[in-house]
Amino acid sequence: MNAVSQPVRVAILISGGGSNMAALIDRATVPGAAFEVVLVLSNDPEAGGLAVAKAKGVTAVAVDHRPFGKDRAAHEAALQTELEAKDVQVVALAGYMRVLTPWLVGRWEGRMLNIHPSLLPKYPGLDTHARALAAGDAEAGCTIHLVTEGVDEGPILAQRAVPIVPGDTAATLAQRVLQAEHALYPQALSDFCQSLV
Ligand code: GAR
Repeated sequence: MNAVSQPVRVAILISGGGSNMAALIDRATVPGAAFEVVLVLSNDPEAGGLAVAKAKGVTAVAVDHRPFGKDRAAHEAALQTELEAKDVQVVALAGYMRVLTPWLVGRWEGRMLNIHPSLLPKYPGLDTHARALAAGDAEAGCTIHLVTEGVDEGPILAQRAVPIVPGDTAATLAQRVLQAEHALYPQALSDFCQSLV
């Protein structure tokens, strides 16, 4: 991105508290930021991150997946309608806890990022911290990657490791990894958006 480029229009998809989302929104307010957050979407109307986003002045919309039942395609079509209405250029998944269909992944190929709380390719899927502890690992961490059809399998853009210390539980480790996530994701998304132009 050169000096006269407009910031890249980013949407963030969440399912929960949205602490990574908040870190991304905060980075976007830095003068000269490579991206702006134009939309926050959640599949859960109760997601705490929706209110956080609104308090930060960002449009936040819930597209509840439950009325769609098993029809994932219809739910994703509704998400896509919201994304297009805001001229979104890049999608950042931040604690979005639903597996996407190949259709939506394909629609955003090369323009959708995810944060995952492990040092991929270790521990794709759920319960990453408990699995790292059970394996006796010396370190854990987080990964930013491009989203592809295979869950947590896309090309890795950035990683950050944290130590596992004696006495750690899944909860204490999750908290340490989350702090690393809050530093890693804004930088990785910024670098990614810079690279687009
Ligand atoms: C984060 O730890 C993120 O890495 C993880 O959910 C948490 C969301 O926290 N994502 C996944 O597990 C995706 N499979 P947040 O809502 O406070 O950002």
